[in-house]
Amino acid sequence: MKPEDVVNLDLYPITDRASPDRAALIARLKRDLDAQQYVSLPDFIRPRARDRAVADAMAALHRAHHNSSNRNCYLQQTGDPALPADHPRNIMLEASSRMLAYDSFPDDCPVKTLYHWAPVRQMVAESVGSEPLYDNEDPCQPVNLLCYQRGDRSAWHFDSVNAFTMTLMLQASEAGGDFEMVPHTRRDDDQNYDYVQRVLTSQRPADAVAVARSAGALCIFRGCNALHRVSPVEGDRMRIMGVFVYEREPGITGDPEVNATVYGRNPAPT
Ligand SMILES: [Fe+2]
Repeated sequence: MKPEDVVNLDLYPITDRASPDRAALIARLKRDLDAQQYVSLPDFIRPRARDRAVADAMAALHRAHHNSSNRNCYLQQTGDPALPADHPRNIMLEASSRMLAYDSFPDDCPVKTLYHWAPVRQMVAESVGSEPLYDNEDPCQPVNLLCYQRGDRSAWHFDSVNAFTMTLMLQASEAGGDFEMVPHTRRDDDQNYDYVQRVLTSQRPADAVAVARSAGALCIFRGCNALHRVSPVEGDRMRIMGVFVYEREPGITGDPEVNATVYGRNPAPT
């Protein structure tokens, strides 16, 4: 499938660098990202491409790594005994999902076509204000298919390392699987522990926003400073999402220890 058949260019004219519509799109993405720390682009992928990506995920599901853990919102599985029991670093929360690494589904899967296409990379780079961006070159990390079956969920957490997170909803669950985030929970220079603790211990934090994620929607968000979670999935239909990692430098590969945890890979023998 050609990139033009994957990305909905009728709604998102990203190939024409001189187009006023493209300039307006980029301006909106930047503005929304700054103001609310997320932006959603409904119907970014065409239905036929989405169907194909869902079929690829289903066919590869037996190769997925089931992550099930208790962890704090900093993605650590052990707390800090020197801190109080109700400190955010000691509040452990449940997470469960199924992760398909880049090398465990076909190279012509539409999510890979989208990821490797220069007009998409360029649109993202201009929107997040970090040009240029490069593809990640790890065997596992560049594009993942993240699947949630009944009962799977992701408790409150910050994403680590990357300045932004990009996901594409391929198939929504029948119920549950709702995505919520709390914009500006912390800053690069301020962990804001009191506020983080209030969010973690509240059933429905007043500042949480529900981000509608219909199938086909691309979402870019500042997951490193905005706590976010996915509520438990209900029903038989899996929630399937593409997850993309771009880098600020060329030639980046992942940490074997991270790949062991996230994808269940054995670190290479030393
Ligand atoms: Fe996340």
